[in-house]
Parts: sequence; C-alpha cells; structure tokens
Amino acid sequence: MTEISNKQNHYLPNIASITRKQKLTETEKLFEIRFNNEVVGNSFNFKPGQFVEVSVFSIGEAPISICSSPTKKGFFQVCIRNVGNLTNTIHKMQEGSIIGIRGPYGNGFPVEAMIGNDLLFIAGGIGLAPLRSLINYILDERTKFKNVTILYGAKNPAEILFESDIKWWQERNDVDLRVTVDNPNNHWSGEVGVVTKFIPDIQIHPTNTYAIICGPPIMYKFVVKELLKKRFIKENIFVSLERLMKCGIGKCGHCGVGYKYTCIDGPVFNYWDVLNLQEAI
Ligand SMILES: Cc1cc2nc3c(=O)[nH]c(=O)nc-3n(C[C@H](O)[C@H](O)[C@H](O)COP(=O)(O)OP(=O)(O)OC[C@H]3O[C@@H](n4cnc5c(N)ncnc54)[C@H](O)[C@@H]3O)c2cc1C
Ligand code: FES
Repeated sequence: MTEISNKQNHYLPNIASITRKQKLTETEKLFEIRFNNEVVGNSFNFKPGQFVEVSVFSIGEAPISICSSPTKKGFFQVCIRNVGNLTNTIHKMQEGSIIGIRGPYGNGFPVEAMIGNDLLFIAGGIGLAPLRSLINYILDERTKFKNVTILYGAKNPAEILFESDIKWWQERNDVDLRVTVDNPNNHWSGEVGVVTKFIPDIQIHPTNTYAIICGPPIMYKFVVKELLKKRFIKENIFVSLERLMKCGIGKCGHCGVGYKYTCIDGPVFNYWDVLNLQEAI
C-alpha cells in the first residue's frame, strides 16, 4: 500500500531508520540507513553520484549525497556535515530513529562510460563523500577499470574524512592514493599544501582517463586549470555541483544553473557542459 501511494506522490518520503551512526570528525557523522518497508528497501537502486532528500518530521528536508557503494545491499550510507537546523537535528538522533527518504535523485556518474579507462579522483573536504560511493564501487568491480588514482585534500588532519577507507585504499597495491592537508599539526608527517600540488607529477594518459572532481567551489577552477595543462579532454572531466535545492525532481526551479536544473540534469556535469552554463563554477 505504501509503495503504491509513493508512486502517486513524489513528495511523500519513505520511512527509514538510522541503523548505525559514527562520528567521523567534529562536524561530520556517517549514518547507515535502512528502509522500514522491505519491498521499498529491495527496490531502492542507485548510481554513485546520486543523492537522496532526507527529512525529519516537523523540521525539514535536505539533499544529501549517498556515500556508500551500490554494491552494498540492504542499506545505504550518508555523511552529514552539521551546518544548520536539519543537519543539527539529524546529528542528535540516535540509532533506531525514524527519518524520511525520497529518491534516489540526480544523474550520477557515467560509470558505464568509464569502464576500461584510467580514473583520477580529486576530492576536497566533504567532497570525498559522493566520490567514496564511486571509488568503493570501482574497487568492488576492480577488473573493469585500469589505473585508479585518488588525490584528497583536507583543511587539517582532524578534518580528514573516512579514515578507515583511506587506510584500506592506501594498503591496496592497485590504487595510487595521495593525501594532503592545508594546515598540519605536530603529529602530521604527510604532505602539506593544496590538492592541486599533486597534479603536475602524476602520470596520466589524457585521452583515456576520466577525472572526477568534488570539493569546495574554489577548488574546481584550479583543479581544472591543472588538468587542462595535462591535455585532458573537457568531456572526460566530471564535476559534482551543489546548489540550493527544494523539490529535487525538477519542479520548483530552485536549483537552476544556466539553463539546466542541478537536481535532474546534474549534480554531475562534464566540464564541457559546465563551460556552456553561466556561472557554474
Ligand atoms: C546534490 C547535493 C548533495 C549534497 N550532499 C551533501 C552531503 O553528502 N553531506 C552534507 O552534509 N551536505 C550535503 N549537501 C548540502 C546539504 O543539503 C545542506 O548542508 C543542508 O541542506 C543544510 O540544511 P540545514 O537545515 O542543516 O541547514 P540550514 O539551516 O538550511 O542552512 C545552514 C547553512 O547552510 C547553507 N546551505 C543550505 N543548503 C545548502 C546547500 N545545498 N549548499 C550549500 N549550502 C547550503 C545555508 O545557506 C546556511 O548558510 C548537499 C547538497 C546538494 C545540493
Ligand atoms: S530542486 Fe526543484 S527544480 Fe531542482
């Protein structure tokens, strides 16, 4: 019955539970979410790069990227930064608490097109969340892809997200992972500086490499500049854009970027599209 009515009303959330909650940093927490209705849970399929609308009754709703791989069945994960009313409420919720979920929405990354190619991931801060979904998907399907390089920059060591994933990626011999921080502390023995510092030195085959970028808006400009110096093809550079959203389904017009809606035409765009959108990055 629930499923039938949800198909009729795209604004009606499905009921879900927080089944695990983990502190990642002072401001970010990881939540594992399962749908209460098994039929809804079993029919929930998503692509890396898609997002859900997460709601708390009487508080509100927000778009949040799915950060787990679709290869993990029965649940999905989101990483939420505590920035305001809704995200603060979710941070205080305990395991077992009920939330609403609409989606998945957005286009996601073009995973099929990436098969057989090299992949270069460049993430800044919480931008690692949507990329984690794609990275872990690719590592679960590792034989389909060639070289995998991950460049990650955080403001300081305390803000590094997904430390257990990073350790796992670091230990693999089929991933080239490089992490840097802007402001080191006394315990940091790794790289210092912005994430773009790695790009000049990495070995890239520009015609058969896809670059996937997500981070703070200022980062895109400098990363793309470095990639173009390496003769990257504009169509092979993908960015995930964040815009203020309401409906998530192309009805309200809140997320317009140029002549496109981020919620249905994005949030993933290739750099060629971005150049044709006004003020995109
Ligand atoms: C496609 C998409 C994916 C996202 N994925 C994630 C994610 O994985 N994890 C995560 O923590 N956040 C993500 N966000 C941002 C998240 O939606 C906002 O942080 C959230 O809506 C804030 O709600 P709030 O009620 O807690 O804050 P509010 O009280 O509404 O606002 C607090 C502050 O955050 C700003 N803000 C609100 N919404 C956005 C937004 N969409 N973009 C930038 N600033 C915003 C407000 O202007 C204000 O300054 C995503 C946004 C989009 C569009
Ligand atoms: S959020 Fe409503 S049109 Fe995109």
